[in-house]
Amino acid sequence: MTLHQIPNTIKTDSFWMPFTANRQFKKAPRLFSSAEGMHYTTVDGRKVIDGSAGLWCVNAGHGRKQIAAAVERQLMTLDFAPTFQMGHPLAFDFAERLAEIAPKGLDRIFFTNSGSESVDTALKIALAYHRVRGEATRTKLIGRERGYHGVGFGGISVGGISPNRKMWSASMVPGVDHLSHTHDLQKNAFSRGEPEHGANLAEELERLVTLHDASTIAAVIIEPIAGSTGVLISPKGYLKRIREICDKHGILLIFDEVITGFGRTGSPFAAQEFGVTPDIITGAKGLTNGSVPMGCVLVKKGIYEAFMQGPEGAIELFHGYTYSAHPTACAAGLATLAIYEKEGLLTRAKTLARYWEDAAHALKGLPHVIDVRNYGLILGLELASIPGKVGARAFEVYTKCFDKGLLIRQTGDILALSPPLIIERPQIDQIFTTLTEVLKGL
Ligand SMILES: Cc1ncc(COP(=O)(O)O)c(C=O)c1O
Repeated sequence: MTLHQIPNTIKTDSFWMPFTANRQFKKAPRLFSSAEGMHYTTVDGRKVIDGSAGLWCVNAGHGRKQIAAAVERQLMTLDFAPTFQMGHPLAFDFAERLAEIAPKGLDRIFFTNSGSESVDTALKIALAYHRVRGEATRTKLIGRERGYHGVGFGGISVGGISPNRKMWSASMVPGVDHLSHTHDLQKNAFSRGEPEHGANLAEELERLVTLHDASTIAAVIIEPIAGSTGVLISPKGYLKRIREICDKHGILLIFDEVITGFGRTGSPFAAQEFGVTPDIITGAKGLTNGSVPMGCVLVKKGIYEAFMQGPEGAIELFHGYTYSAHPTACAAGLATLAIYEKEGLLTRAKTLARYWEDAAHALKGLPHVIDVRNYGLILGLELASIPGKVGARAFEVYTKCFDKGLLIRQTGDILALSPPLIIERPQIDQIFTTLTEVLKGL
């Protein structure tokens, strides 16, 4: 078979693919048929090294038998149980285990099925929290330009990516404002780790408080490292300053850790890595190693307690999903956490970060490379755009890497890498050798 040839038994018409150029893709589909460890195998039998942990989720690598066995066992024991006015033991076990690895104090866990649902849940909890405390005027939410918080109406409203918003601009959640993003190539290009410049941008929150008044603001939501918009690492001191301003004005701080959670930065959560504790954390992806869809919202005990008022027989939060704490997802999640713990994966990125960083910064000077930025096992590689064709250059790199057996992510003219946390040094070498070859050949 030639490259991209797919068996003619596969018809591509009916599947409307998400976040995909459907017509272009279906002319030359890139299809995986199996995966193990650090690698995918394509339907035409080629091995592809996974430079992006699928979509930032397969942190323990592919094909983990322990997870598969736990899922199978669970399906045959208790395939489904409601968690509305009912329960099952794994839901409680999993929440307890998550509370153990969460930043101190965030020990109340709400389960969802995706990052988008985690974000909408977190925003709803924040709004309801102020209301149950008698501060119902706190209805505004603050997001950031270039933020990505999934695709629910809440998430796109606080998010800051124009194509994700423009079709629905008249249907956004009202009362949302945005901070500026912190991406500044002039000052911070080729930063290693947290960029030096930009902490002052946190002061914009004070400006928004002055504009709207603190009594109207419920929460600020921020990705400690913005991933989908092209790996934007918060500048030194920025998150700490945002925390201080939130504290000063009684505003809740939500960290969206859908991609930074579960070891990506070198700590279980970026909150621990950067020493800044938010009030709420959203998670998903690495929660089950990508094996079964699931999300989580980690909430400070005090917020949970604020809801535990009124008659004991009254439902405290009118929110939840049929599949919140689905038994199969909980089984997958518990098995995932056991692997993370046994193999030290929640902190392994720290031991590889320097090697990863040096390999990444060796790309400086290659054709069209205008920035390399990294943290933990994350890389953002920014290329100069072809005038009038934003994204075309990075897309070419993306497809050429795939043809040479490397999976990465592309957004605009930025390439993002976030390999499974089981990666070994020779595999890091392989990834950067491929990238170098492709960039040199542009
Ligand atoms: C920071 C962040 N929040 C939310 C989401 C949405 O997660 P999902 O695609 O599972 O809904 C993502 C997905 O990439 C994300 O990166």
